[in-house]
Amino acid sequence: MKSTYYVTTPIYYLNADPHIGSAYTTIVADIIARYRRALGYDVFFLTGTDEHGQSVLNAAKVKNVEVQKYCDDMAGRFEKLWKDLDITNNGFIRTTDERHMKTVQYFVETMLRNGDVYKGKYEGWYCVPCESFWPADDLGDDKTCPSCKRPVRWISEDNYFFRLSKYNDALLKLFEDKPEFMQPDFRRNEMLSILKDGLKDLSITRTSFTWGVPLSSDPEHVVYVWIDALINYISAIGYPVDEATFKRWWPADLHLIGKEINRFHSLVWPAMLMSVGLPLPKQIYAHGWLTVNGQKISKSLGNAIDPREFVRVYSNDAVRYYLVRDIQFGRDGDFSEENLIGRINSDLANDLGNLLHRTVVMIEKFASGKIPTRAEATSSDEQLNAIARQTITDYKESMDALRFTHAMESVWEYVRFGNKYIDLTEPWILGKLENGQPQLQTVLYNLADTLRNVAMLISPVMPSTASEILRRLGVNEAFDLNEVAPGRLQPGTAVIHGEPIFPRIDMDKHKRVIGDTSTPLEEENDSRISIEDFTKADLRIGRIEGVEKVKKSKKLLKLIVDLGDLGKRQVVAGIGKTYTPEDLLGKTVVVVVNLVPVKLMGIESEGMVLAASDSENLSLLTSDKDAKPGTRIS
Ligand code: ME8
Repeated sequence: MKSTYYVTTPIYYLNADPHIGSAYTTIVADIIARYRRALGYDVFFLTGTDEHGQSVLNAAKVKNVEVQKYCDDMAGRFEKLWKDLDITNNGFIRTTDERHMKTVQYFVETMLRNGDVYKGKYEGWYCVPCESFWPADDLGDDKTCPSCKRPVRWISEDNYFFRLSKYNDALLKLFEDKPEFMQPDFRRNEMLSILKDGLKDLSITRTSFTWGVPLSSDPEHVVYVWIDALINYISAIGYPVDEATFKRWWPADLHLIGKEINRFHSLVWPAMLMSVGLPLPKQIYAHGWLTVNGQKISKSLGNAIDPREFVRVYSNDAVRYYLVRDIQFGRDGDFSEENLIGRINSDLANDLGNLLHRTVVMIEKFASGKIPTRAEATSSDEQLNAIARQTITDYKESMDALRFTHAMESVWEYVRFGNKYIDLTEPWILGKLENGQPQLQTVLYNLADTLRNVAMLISPVMPSTASEILRRLGVNEAFDLNEVAPGRLQPGTAVIHGEPIFPRIDMDKHKRVIGDTSTPLEEENDSRISIEDFTKADLRIGRIEGVEKVKKSKKLLKLIVDLGDLGKRQVVAGIGKTYTPEDLLGKTVVVVVNLVPVKLMGIESEGMVLAASDSENLSLLTSDKDAKPGTRIS
């Protein structure tokens, strides 16, 4: 029976369209999946979409679309993108799939039964775009998220907690005993240092919104989006209902992720699996982050470009090759359009394209268009064969270790030697010599044989190019990396002439996909804001429950405001000249609840009440129909 290989990508949030950064992980996972298939493995390659949580809900609200409908549309866009990019995923999981949601409920109930979940109060800072809780010490200066640098918001809720701290020692042991569990090493060390500081328990449910998987035993709570999301890796392969399928694929061979979500994958996920008694994945690999032309990928810079734009202009294979050839997998890297064009011109057009073109033309000219049989060796043949063997060994070692740049470098040494071999053996001279035929046949065979090997080796990275090379050599074989070795090409088939596989690009005249992104798209002095900017302000209905004058101030009043699910907050407001405490008690007001707290006359204010004011009059905003405390305003 074939060995199995299970590889996953993160499941992507549906709050924005994918760009080259989000496509990067999926493209690399596709390369790994194709590599394993070509080695004979039975592969399951899973990707999907992460559809619950506040950030997706907000995105749907901004678009004014019902959230499930929004998710259906967006998930469709992701699926379509992967098809257009020739991604060979076998599974596509959506966290709103009923099967997945049932698995999440089952999983969390099992954790509860096993005594690893308890009820408590969560009070702390939360980053909605990252869907992450952060300790105050980790925040940036102005209360910003340490990962994405956007403002965090204070939340206070009754939650269920997972006893993550209980697994601290087991995780330390795992990291120490099995270094391969988390790679690369420098990321593993980051996780080790978090473990050495000690893990805190994790809040795993939310009550302030309902867009999520309800807890079976307490449906007022929805499961925290990260717990929900991580379970996708097993719900997609049948856990817990389809035991045979689950056993076939689990434990996963590789979870491929970006570095910013390593904590969840390398610490939280294994602890969850330990809690329910399931085996751990074999490896988690956290790669670096891409910038585009040296800049962070962002909508406002105009460089969050649909990956299909690059593919349309440069071809899918060229983009894939560039991503793994130029960006050292694991490290941060820059997607530079100039460097992409450079690689196309040098490696693809000049080295590979030329080798194919010269070989086919010479076979047509000197061998009636058919792959000849090897006859008499030349002195350069042994060198070519030695390089072929070395390349094949280096390539497999590098691909197994996810060192794609090295793998491609070694293949290109082989390709370049192929071109050099033509110069060394001078077929055009052999063709003129009376007794040159036997050597000429060998040279032409070796060149075609080299191209067959190269096609097989590049097939995971450049599948269409590899197919085209084989087609032009008249080779009708599936990609099989066990069949790569000098001398395996069958002679006698007719070669096919064609256009250059990678036409050279004129650096000076070529119109770039990415325009000038040195300044943001919005005019700098434009004071308009987008709806996304506006919705960053979290406005809620509050009811004033307590009022005190602030000592030594005529204007300031200290209010205690009931904000429903958000609890009670202390807000200091400059309304004392217009309103007395008696006017205010019981009044419904509008409060901005996600401002960074400030101190006014030494008293902390955790929000702002809204009022209309000019130099003479001040009037508090209130609600027409006495909306409930905590109600959102949009
Ligand atoms: O984090 N460079 O989803 P997400 C490299 N739903 N990779 C990038 C990138 C960039 N500039 N931008 C995005 C989530 N990525 C969660 C995951 S998994 C159980 C839940 C890739 O839509 C990279 O793989 O924010 C990163 O980890 C992922 O997209 C984040 O996707």
